[in-house]
Amino acid sequence: MRKKVIAGNWKMNKDLNESQSLVSGIISGLGNDDKCDVIVCPPYTSLNEVHALIKNTKVKLGAQNMFYEESGAYTGEISPSMLKSVGCEYVILGHSERRNIFGEGDEMINKKIKKALESGLKVIFCIGESLAQREESITNDVVKNQIVNGLNGITSDDMKNIIIAYEPIWAIGTGKTATPEQAQEVHSFIRNLISNNFSNEIAENIVIQYGGSVKPENAATLLSKPDIDGALVGGACLKADSFLSIVASA
Ligand code: PGA
Repeated sequence: MRKKVIAGNWKMNKDLNESQSLVSGIISGLGNDDKCDVIVCPPYTSLNEVHALIKNTKVKLGAQNMFYEESGAYTGEISPSMLKSVGCEYVILGHSERRNIFGEGDEMINKKIKKALESGLKVIFCIGESLAQREESITNDVVKNQIVNGLNGITSDDMKNIIIAYEPIWAIGTGKTATPEQAQEVHSFIRNLISNNFSNEIAENIVIQYGGSVKPENAATLLSKPDIDGALVGGACLKADSFLSIVASA
């Protein structure tokens, strides 16, 4: 059985002090059971200190982005080994804000995914359609293209280190959540695609998270769907109470 994975994407929120107090709140409210994995993805500037606080807890650390080169003249960028040196185990790649605000395309995302895996990081690979694409009824085509291009050249073995996060863009930060049925439909489409492109075993084992206005009030019904294996949470992960309540639903 797949274990549920709840990840908090803090985005560009929380300075160092605020990060330390948020993660301390999360740690103190987490139970000891092993039923679901918990990942926090603070901004780069807090990774090292958050890592110090989560040591010996079940909370794991992720970054929100990285570049696909190891070092060099890339002003403002961060490499996989830098992330590993401050305790990151995961990295979010392909987030729609990276795609839309910073112009990252499938090809760049694919390079980043390959580099992250090669460096021993696990990837939370985000995909999802815009409102216009949903209204045009091309959600499946969009999601399929993002997966095929983003995972181009990725081996079956690598797939063990990938989580897919389905995040319909129209649901991110808008308060508009996909209904559990809408999300389940796309999750099941994604799982079938993975089964066709890799294997049934990989499809059965891969974690597919839902993201887009996940809140304590809607988490349980979303997570009760058979192909929804967790959540990538933005706004609701910025307060320990609401994040913990989503973890508890899982
Ligand atoms: P949201 O963000 O929960 O604020 O909608 C989710 C995400 O962008 O990962």
